[in-house]
Amino acid sequence: MADSSKSIYSPDVLQGKRILITGGGTGLGRGVAAHLVQHGAEVHLWGRRQAVLEEAAAQASASRPGSVQVQTVDVRRADLVDAAIAEIWARYGPLTSVVNNAAANFIAPTASLSARAFETVSSTVMNGSFNTTHAAGRRWIAEGLPGAVLSMLTTWIWTGSAFVVPSAMGKTAVHAMTMSLAVEWARYGIRVNALAPGPIPTDYAWEMLNPTDKSSVGATQADQIPMRRVGTVEELANLVIFLLSDACDYLTGETIAMDGGQKLAGPGTFAGLTTLSDQDWADIRERSQLASAQSKAQRTV
Ligand code: HXC
Repeated sequence: MADSSKSIYSPDVLQGKRILITGGGTGLGRGVAAHLVQHGAEVHLWGRRQAVLEEAAAQASASRPGSVQVQTVDVRRADLVDAAIAEIWARYGPLTSVVNNAAANFIAPTASLSARAFETVSSTVMNGSFNTTHAAGRRWIAEGLPGAVLSMLTTWIWTGSAFVVPSAMGKTAVHAMTMSLAVEWARYGIRVNALAPGPIPTDYAWEMLNPTDKSSVGATQADQIPMRRVGTVEELANLVIFLLSDACDYLTGETIAMDGGQKLAGPGTFAGLTTLSDQDWADIRERSQLASAQSKAQRTV
C-alpha cells in the first residue's frame, strides 16, 4: 500500500479557511479535522456531547493549539443550527466552508423500524445537511462571499442498500441537494460537492454497522473490496483538503466515490445480510442499542 500519510500539500494550503465539520466529535469528522488544522485551517466542530467535542478539539488542535472551536448542536433543529452559525460569524468571522458529516445509522430490517427510528436517521442526514448548508449559504449570498459545501455521502446513493434504508434515502436526498445547489449557487461563487467513501473503520460508527461477527457476510469487509482493504482517514483527508482548497474552483455538483472499487464490483453494501436469522437481528439490535445508550449518557444537547 502506498504511503498516504505523507501530505502532498503545502502546510498552508488551507490558511485563511474557517471550516465547520458537523458530527466532528467522533469518527471520520474528528479524524479529518486534525489534517485540516495541519494544513492551516481554523476548524469548528459540532456534536451533541460537550466532553467528547472538547477531547476531539484538543486532539485535532495538537499541532496548532487554539485552532479548533466546538459547539453542541443538534443539526436536526434548524433554529439551533442558525443560532450556532450566527455565533461563529459574530465571534470568529464568516465560515469559508461547511462539511456536512453528521450522520446517524444502524443496520436493521426495514420492516422492524418504528416511525421514530426512520425519522431519527433520515432527518439527521437530510434535514441536518440542509439546515447547515442553508444557514451558511444564505449568509454567503447576503454578504457576497464565496463558499464551499462538502457532504459526506455513501455509494448507496447510486445502488441503494438493504438494511440501511433511512440512511440510503437521506444520503440520496443530500446528493440531490448537491447537484441542485451547485447550479443555483454557482453564480455566487459557492461550490457544492460531496464524497462517497467506502468503509473506513472508526470507533462508534463501525460498531453500529458491524455489531456482530456475522456481519462478515456484509460488505464492510475487506475481501468484498477489489483493493482488498478498507480506506484510511488520511486518504479521505487528502481528498477533503483538495476539495476545500482554492485549487479546484471549477469543480462543483459532483459526488466523488473513494471506495477501492467496491461499488463497481458487487451488490449494495449490506446485501449479504439477507442470510441473517431473526435471532441474529435481535442480537444486533441489542448490541447497537447498548452502544447508543452509552453514547447518549454523555450528551449535553
Ligand atoms: C432498530 C433502532 C436501533 C436498532 C435505534 N433504534 N437503534 N431500531 N434497530 N439497532 C430506534 C430506537 O428504538 C428509536 O425508536 C429510534 O431509533 C431513535 O433512537 P434513539 O436512540 O432515541 O436516537 P438517538 O439517540 O438520536 O440515536 C440515533 C442513533 C445513534 C442512530 C441510534 O446511532 C446515533 O446517533 N449515531 C450517530 C453516529 C452514527 O451512527 N454514525 C454512523 C454514520 S455511518 P423508538 O420508536 O423505539 O423510540 C454512515 C455511513 C457508513 O452513515 C458507510 C459505510 C460504508
